[in-house]
Parts: sequence; C-alpha cells; structure tokens
Amino acid sequence: MNQLDQHARTTGGRRQAKRPLRSRPSFWWGMFFAIVAVGAAASMVVISGAVPVFPKPTPTPTTKFTPYAGPKIDLTSRSIDDPKSYWLVVNKLRPLNPLKWVPEDLVSIDVPKNYVAYLRQEAAAALVQMFISYKAENPKRGLKVQSTYRSYDMQASVFDGTLTLVAKPGYSEHQTGMATDIGAISGKCPVQDCFAFEPEGKWLAANAYKFGFILRYPKGKEKVTGYQYEPWHYRYVGTELSWYMHDAKIQTLEEAFNLPAAPKYADQK
Ligand code: DAL
Ligand code: ZN
Repeated sequence: MNQLDQHARTTGGRRQAKRPLRSRPSFWWGMFFAIVAVGAAASMVVISGAVPVFPKPTPTPTTKFTPYAGPKIDLTSRSIDDPKSYWLVVNKLRPLNPLKWVPEDLVSIDVPKNYVAYLRQEAAAALVQMFISYKAENPKRGLKVQSTYRSYDMQASVFDGTLTLVAKPGYSEHQTGMATDIGAISGKCPVQDCFAFEPEGKWLAANAYKFGFILRYPKGKEKVTGYQYEPWHYRYVGTELSWYMHDAKIQTLEEAFNLPAAPKYADQK
C-alpha cells in the first residue's frame, strides 16, 4: 500500500490523485472570470479615462436628509401688533391700538384716483411702482385707486353695518395707511366682484405680490378673514412677506402668522 492508499484508508475518503492544474475544470473557470474582470476594468478605464475611486463607505449617512421647507423668512422679525409695523395684522379680533390710530408718515400719492389719496411712505412708493409697471405692460389701460387711507371718523361714516364688507372704525386696514382699493381707469366693476374678471383685476391678482401687496380678502377664506371676497382690496406688507406668502401659497395674514381665524367681532353673536 502506497502513501495515498494509506491516507484514503485513514481518512475514510477516496483516493485523491494529484492532477495537473491545467486538467482541472476549476482552473479554467477561474481563468475565464479573471479575463472577464480584467476586460471590464480595462473598458472602464478607457470610457472614463481614469480608474474609478469610490469613497470608503460609512455604516450610516453622516448628514440628515432635509426636505424642502419652502421659502425662508423669520416671521418674528417684525411686530404684528405695532401699528407702525408693515406686518401689523388687523382683523375683527385685532383692533388698532390705539383705536383712533393715525399713521405719522402719510403721503399724497400721484396716481389716477377719484378723490385725495394717502398712504404711508413705503406703501405709496410701492403702489406708484405697481401702477407704472401695469401701464408699461398695458399702455391702453390703467389702474386707479378707489380708496386709500381712511381715518377713524371716515371709517365711521362709511360703516353701514354690513359686517362682512365694511369694518367697524378702529378695525379697518384702511385706517393703517397700508391698504387700498384698486379699480380700472375703464371704470368697469369698481369695488365689485366682477373686477376679478377685468384685465386689471387679473393682473393685480397675479402680480401685486411682486410689489409687496397681498389680496387681503381672498375667495374661500371668508371664515378666516371675516370678510367676503374683495378682489379690489390690497394690503401692503412689504416684498419679503408678500413673496414668502406667494411662494409658500399662504393666502392670509392669519395663516401666515398662525393666528386664530377672525370670522366675528369678540362681542358679536
Ligand atoms: N372693506 C374692508 C374690510 C374695510 O372696510 O376695511
Ligand atoms: Zn378696502
């Protein structure tokens, strides 16, 4: 008995003859895969021009996924209570303080108008710019202001008890010097719902935010604002807030500042 027979007997296995490498199938399979791998790597070098280098993987991502959160703004950077602030929020639950507040920086605005027209400095400059832009785009048409600043007493004279259309004195945005009712020089649909379908009404709805104005009483938000749809009433809030609200698709100041809806006055049944 030679050594191989001896080994087979002691291990219980078959006799293992030593075969030359080239006669083993595993050798040729190995050669095949090696050639394929070398070919693939060579192709990558030719295609990319360099040997690819991958970063060493880490077990977990090192940075967190941040979903798009919309345009950024610090909504606490200005007061919503101070009547001097362009972010002041006035509604049926948030009267002016003091109730007979008069802005200090009212200026007369030189735009087409029915009567005298006053707004606060910054709002006036923005309004003029908006009217100029409209005219530049629509030379045969034009915007006109129907109403701008109204004092406490003027508001008292227009208040007719229509609670969803006219604010009580002390509760109107017109008293802030930051709101204006806008119409068309054509004279069509002044202070009426149909103004929304006039070219001027459509243009304002689409473009006013670029100048810092928002449509303050939108359709469908009556229970939030407390007022019916007013496609003519625009409120100046400055471009930072107006662009933010536009881009974030936030329609009312109450929603922008997470304030309670104001469908009724505090003492209203
Ligand atoms: N028309 C608006 C609500 C006002 O009177 O202030
Ligand atoms: Zn108005």
